[in-house]
Amino acid sequence: MMPHARPASFYLWGQPLFDRILARSWQLLEPTEAELQPDLLLPGSLNEPIIQGGGRVLSNVCTHRGARLLREPCARKNLRCAYHGRSFSPEGKLLGRPGFEDAPPSAEDLPSLPLHSFGPLQFTAIQPALPFPSQLQERLSFLPLENFHLDPAATRDYTVNAHFLLYLENYLEGLHIPFVHPALNQALDWKSYRMELFPGGSLQIGLANADGPAFELPPGHPDHGQRIAAYWYALHPCTLLNFYPWGLSVNRLLPEGPERTRIRYHSYVWKEELRGKGAGGALDQVELEDDAIVEEVQRGLRSRLYRGGLLSPRWEQGVAHLHRELDALLADPTDTL
Ligand code: FES
Ligand SMILES: [Fe+2]
Repeated sequence: MMPHARPASFYLWGQPLFDRILARSWQLLEPTEAELQPDLLLPGSLNEPIIQGGGRVLSNVCTHRGARLLREPCARKNLRCAYHGRSFSPEGKLLGRPGFEDAPPSAEDLPSLPLHSFGPLQFTAIQPALPFPSQLQERLSFLPLENFHLDPAATRDYTVNAHFLLYLENYLEGLHIPFVHPALNQALDWKSYRMELFPGGSLQIGLANADGPAFELPPGHPDHGQRIAAYWYALHPCTLLNFYPWGLSVNRLLPEGPERTRIRYHSYVWKEELRGKGAGGALDQVELEDDAIVEEVQRGLRSRLYRGGLLSPRWEQGVAHLHRELDALLADPTDTL
């Protein structure tokens, strides 16, 4: 049966989305220079207080009565709670607990979250439903990710007045490229576009037109001999990793409301001389074109007459794959949050 465009998970906002989907998927951490950095995981939706640094992610909530522990970035040191003076090591171990001198020992260390590093990127999850996808490492091991450097001047936010899943659905298909992105379409050999699905996300592969920049792929690479202009990875449901011959453009989807999403951009540059060229060139323009069409869809979906359309088997497999994974998470009986 052809998949349908409007799954049960749509328009989801609140606890089922936060606990069953967002808390169970891998999230990219904000880059930081600080040794210990307080942060919120998915500000605007999950709002989970965390401390990152020193190769760890810890809960930033005191295990006594729940006060926030670390308020400012700082060098590595023991942490003292401002409420009743409990102290913890930078690894989260409970060191002191005033008022409990006569009480029996208790297991009240700070909870620790899993951490997965991929090049300069660090991911965590509150309770991951799946291991971090191995597909990225397998496909991209030819890239010297240690030479990719964050360009802070290129960090920016966009606000889109649409549900974040509509934004993600748009990202997951190349069918709209010739219609919405005429300039990007010029840089691509659109008919050769293809995609691969894997647990937790998908990969879209854009081939360069005749003279655009392409990756130099070593012999033995699955795409060796092809002129690849872009590897577009979606890690469901909040992380987009766009690899171009110049480097990596990272987009984090930060859901802020049922019809509002912030898109945070970071650029990691490898070959400065290729920036601004080819499929990874005019990223701001492509973003504004996508934002405008996604907001159109948000308005269209308020219709009482729209019933949801069929998805193209050639072009919209990624959208159908997302729907299946979201529905499986919503129905997962092992959910313990
Ligand atoms: S809440 Fe932290 S010591 Fe009481
Ligand atoms: Fe697009």
